[in-house]
Amino acid sequence: MVAARLTARPTSGPLTGRVRAPGDKSMSHRSLILGAMATGVTEIEGLLEGDDILATARAATAFGADVTRLGDGRWRVIGQGGLKTPLQVIDCGNAGTGVRLLMGAAAGYDLRATFDGDQSLRKRPMKRVTAPLTDMGARFAWLADEDRLPLTLSGGGLKAIDHLQTVASAQIKSAILLAALNAEGETIVTEPEKSRDHTERMLRAFGAEVDVQPLAEGWRIRLKGGQALTGAPVAVPGDPSSAAFPLAAALIVPGASVTVEGVMLNPLRTGLFDTWREMGADLTVANVRESGGEQIGDVTARHSALTGVVVPESRAASMIDEYPILAATAAYAEGATVMRGVGEMRVKESDRISLMVNGLRTCGVAVEEEAEGFIVQGGRVKGGATVVTAHDHRIAMSHLVLGLAAEQAVSVLDPEMIATSFPGFVELMNGLGAEVG
Ligand code: S3P
Repeated sequence: MVAARLTARPTSGPLTGRVRAPGDKSMSHRSLILGAMATGVTEIEGLLEGDDILATARAATAFGADVTRLGDGRWRVIGQGGLKTPLQVIDCGNAGTGVRLLMGAAAGYDLRATFDGDQSLRKRPMKRVTAPLTDMGARFAWLADEDRLPLTLSGGGLKAIDHLQTVASAQIKSAILLAALNAEGETIVTEPEKSRDHTERMLRAFGAEVDVQPLAEGWRIRLKGGQALTGAPVAVPGDPSSAAFPLAAALIVPGASVTVEGVMLNPLRTGLFDTWREMGADLTVANVRESGGEQIGDVTARHSALTGVVVPESRAASMIDEYPILAATAAYAEGATVMRGVGEMRVKESDRISLMVNGLRTCGVAVEEEAEGFIVQGGRVKGGATVVTAHDHRIAMSHLVLGLAAEQAVSVLDPEMIATSFPGFVELMNGLGAEVG
């Protein structure tokens, strides 16, 4: 049983050590989904064994793949060269990436599938994915409310589309590209703002041709239908979005120095590191190497005197999941940190702008809320409060890190969702010298 509340106490001793971040969540979902669509064996190393990914593994099995856990983070998927009608409802739990990518993958096959999720996922918009998939020829029936799960998909008979992205979302792009593999004709996705490109890179590793043309702003991705995937080995690197939490703790706790090994350094994922450096963070990267088609490195953060910055709006897509932890570190910076153009935060696992604004205020930090952003005034962090997390893993972890350098302890409610992306978070932080429990 996980406690219904966790408390982070101001760290008394030094916070030091070397740790490994859990496997990247984005690549973990994709490795299972591509493995299920492909013909043959996909062996995965370093898979994130968080609840979101376990839900995708169960979905891959339900769609007809043979999925086996071989050991710690080591999984084997044997795909049948396509997905089949599942016998049960596909329950994606808390995972927006899982459900949206699976809907795209499944849409290309002649099958019927019902998708559902937990209370949080049932509140998130689905039309952003079902609308372009409907344009391609997929049929969707809403089983409760329009634009929300649960829904039933009838796939097959797709035609290519030419899609212009209006939000920088890798989930939308990926759903379209996965469907496009089994559509007639060439699908084009134009992104005025680049979003993470794991689907494009991994599709190539599974034998597909994906053409990417740079544009003056963003890029255009083309994929011809009728391409079969072949199983391939996948080495999943450490998740920069998870590495952010122990690194953030090191930046704000006096005397701290923490290294996270094997962190993925894809520039479409490292906007937070750029922002921290602009704030004056002592953040260094060593031992840069390649793994699984990505650059990885060992990232060290040391306690730093931070200064508030204006985060460029153009950087939002490369750190969209990291604004909550940026806000926690901004509370310790001198001056204001301005985060704008981040309306997408409101449709994540929770309304993350509202939750961070309320949580930081509860801990005595001055924050201004805007429709599509927020501004944190750094300075004293009193703590001594209990924060509502709306069952959102990143809201919980961000406030626990905040509590490590506050004047008094910070507690978070409903922390069980931390296991969706960062199983073992509490043990890892305590291993570095933190007091979370
Ligand atoms: C993800 C894309 C992002 C991110 C999510 C993972 C992915 O969502 O917030 O945690 O793996 O493609 P959007 O693409 O919808 O912004």
